[in-house]
Amino acid sequence: TAESVRELLLSRIRDVADYPKPGVMFKDITPLLADPAAFTALTDTLAELCVRHGATKIVGLEARGFILAAPVAVRAGMGFVPVRKAGKLPGATLSQSYELEYGSAEIEIHAEDLDPADRIMVIDDVLATGGTAEASLELIRRAGARVAGVAVLMELGFLAGRARLEPRLDGAPLEAL
Ligand code: PRP
Repeated sequence: TAESVRELLLSRIRDVADYPKPGVMFKDITPLLADPAAFTALTDTLAELCVRHGATKIVGLEARGFILAAPVAVRAGMGFVPVRKAGKLPGATLSQSYELEYGSAEIEIHAEDLDPADRIMVIDDVLATGGTAEASLELIRRAGARVAGVAVLMELGFLAGRARLEPRLDGAPLEAL
C-alpha cells in the first residue's frame, strides 16, 4: 500500500545532525539507495505518478535528482533530460539564475531536448525553499514545453517551498512522497 511504501522510504532516510553546517539536520538518502527494495519501491511509485499525471518526459535536477529521475524515466518509458549546474552542458543552453540564502545559483538545460508537445515531470530528492524547482519550471516554460507536475521524495515543510512553487504550477500537482 501507499502507506507501507511511505513507511519503508522513511525508515531508509538517515538524519545527520549538524551537516553540512551546525544547526542543520541533513536528510541522507544513501541508505535508501543502497536498499534495492526501497529504491525499487521509490522508482515504481514515482514512475506511476508520472504516468498518472500524463507526463511524456522527465526532467531531473542535479545531482541527487539524477539518481532518482533516471530509473524513473526508464521505468515509465519516458526520456530523461538533465537540469545541470551552470557550465556543464556542451550544447545550446537556456540558463536561469535564482537567489540562495547567501548569493545566487544558476542552472541550465538543453532546450532542444524539450518539445512544445512535451509534458514534463520534474523530479528531485528534496523540496526545500523551492528555489531550484522554481528555476527549473522557468527553464521548461522558456523551452516552450508544458509542466505535468513536480515530484519529490521529501518536502521540508518548514521552508515553505510548496507555497513558493504552487503559483508557478498552473494547477499541475506537486507530489511529495
Ligand atoms: C539540493 C536538493 C535540491 C535542492 C533543494 O540540491 O537536491 O535540488 O537542494 O533546495 P531548494 O528547494 O532550497 O532549492 P543541492 O543544491 O544540495 O545539490 P546536489 O543534489 O548536487 O547535492
